[in-house]
Amino acid sequence: PRATVLLHPDFRVGEIDRRLFASFVEHLGRAVYTGIYEPGHETADEHGFRRDVADLTRELGVSMIRYPGGNFVSNYVWEDGVGPDRLPFIDLAWRTIEPNTVGTDEFLQWAEREGIEPMMAVNLGTRGVAAAAALVEYCNGEAGSRWADLRIANGRTEPYGVRLWCLGNEMDGPWQIGHKDADEYGKLAAEAGKAMRLVDQSIELVVCGSSSMMMDTFGSWEQTVLEHTWDVVDHLSMHAYYEELDGDRASFLGSGTSMDRFIRRVVASADAVAARRRSDKVVTISFDEWNVWYLQSRFVGEKNLPLQRDAPRIIEDVYSALDAVVVGDLLVTLLNHADRVPVACLAQLVNVIAPIMTEPGGPAWRQPTFHPFATTARLARGTALDLRVSGPSMTTTAHGEVPVVTAAATLDGSDVAVFLVNRSAEPVEVELSHPGVTLALGRGVQVTADDEPAVEGPEHAAAVAERHVSEVDGPAPATGSTVVTLAPESWTALP
Ligand code: AHR
Repeated sequence: PRATVLLHPDFRVGEIDRRLFASFVEHLGRAVYTGIYEPGHETADEHGFRRDVADLTRELGVSMIRYPGGNFVSNYVWEDGVGPDRLPFIDLAWRTIEPNTVGTDEFLQWAEREGIEPMMAVNLGTRGVAAAAALVEYCNGEAGSRWADLRIANGRTEPYGVRLWCLGNEMDGPWQIGHKDADEYGKLAAEAGKAMRLVDQSIELVVCGSSSMMMDTFGSWEQTVLEHTWDVVDHLSMHAYYEELDGDRASFLGSGTSMDRFIRRVVASADAVAARRRSDKVVTISFDEWNVWYLQSRFVGEKNLPLQRDAPRIIEDVYSALDAVVVGDLLVTLLNHADRVPVACLAQLVNVIAPIMTEPGGPAWRQPTFHPFATTARLARGTALDLRVSGPSMTTTAHGEVPVVTAAATLDGSDVAVFLVNRSAEPVEVELSHPGVTLALGRGVQVTADDEPAVEGPEHAAAVAERHVSEVDGPAPATGSTVVTLAPESWTALP
C-alpha cells in the first residue's frame, strides 16, 4: 500500500503552544506519595521530592503539570494542605486517607524548581466561589491581604503567578463529588471565574466540558455551560481515554481518528455558541486529560475501591508497545489541531496511568508510552503544518472507516519535523510530496507494536524499549518528493 502526504511550509495550522506537552499529577494512588514525593528515598532532595522522577519528567519534556486533581479536587479543602498543621481527611474520590503532607506550596515550589509551569484546579464540587477566589489570592496575591499574607506567613513571599486555572473537574460525571447539571455548574463556574479574575486579571480559565464524547449530555453540556460562562472563560476542557476492548486491535489503533472527531465536535459546539451570540471570541480547548487507560476493561470503578491509606496502588496500568504507538498517534492528532488546542495534559505523570513508574524505595523507569511523548515534545516545535494525507483506509468496528496513515509536521525556522503513523499490519510506502521545496530529514525515532501483553516492572519496560523503540535514518535530502517506508503498526518521527 502507498499513501501520499502533501506538505508545504506556507500551509499552516497554527503555532504550537508548549502547553500542548503538559501532564497531570493528582492526589490519587501513588502519583504524589512515592511518585514525585518520597522523603527518605535515596534520590530525595532536601524537600523530600525524588530526583530520579524529576529527571525523568525533564527528559519527558513536560512543560506544565495540572494539580491537584482530577476527581480528587472536588472534595479538597486546600487550606488544610498549607501551613504547619496538616489535617488528614478521607478523599471521597479515591477512598484514600489523604495525609495532606504535600499541598499547594510543596507542589508549586517543586514545579518551580523543576522549571515546570503549574496548572491549578479549584474545587467546585463541595465548595464554591469564596474558596476558589481565596486560593487564587493565596497563590498569586501581593502582600497586604488575608490569603496572600497567609502564604507569606507559611514561608513564601513571592506570588507564584499561576496562570492557568480549571473551574472544577468533570462536573458532568455522576461519579464526581458534588456533580451538577449543566445549568447549576455553568452558573457556579461563571461566578467563581468572575471572582477569581477579580483577584488576578491575568489568569486564564478552563471551564469543564464533557468527561468523554460518550456522555449522554455531550454537546448540550458544552452549549449550556458556555452560554453561562462565555464572558469569563478562555478554554473548554476535553477528556478522553482510549483502550483496546475485546481484542479489537483495529479500533484501538484508530483511536486518533476518534480523538480527531471529538475535537472537531467540541470546536463546533464552542463556535456555535459564538455564532449565536454574534461573538468574535474564540474559545480554545484544554485537552486536560488524555491517554491510553484500560478503564472499562480493568478498572473496578471508584465505588468499589476499599478505603485505604499510605499511597495505595490504584490504576497503575502497565503499557505495551502497541499502547505506545497509539499514544504517538494521539499526539499526531493533537498537533493537527494546534490552532484550537493550546493545552493538553497526558494523564498522568507518574504511577497512575503514567509514562513514569516507580517502586517505593526503589527505581524509577520509563513505560513504553514515555518514548513517543518525549520525542514529540522534543521535535515538534514552532508551527504545525496543514498537511493533506491521502491513502488507504481501514474498517473498524468502533469508528467506521479510518485512514491507515496519519501524519503531522512542524516547522521551526527552516527545520521541518514529520510524524507518521501506520495503523495497518502491512508496511506502507509514504510519498512525502513537497513541491518546490527541498526536504532534508535526519535521524529519527520509530516505535513498532507487537502482540505481546504488557508485563510489569522496569526490566520488562526496558526490554520492550530495546525491541520496539529504535533510531531510524531519514531519507536522502530531495526536492519535490521523498519516500519513507513505514513498518507495520508503527509511529515514526523524523526531524
Ligand atoms: O485521571 C484519572 C481520573 O480520570 C481523573 O481523576 C478524572 O478527572 C478522570 O475521570
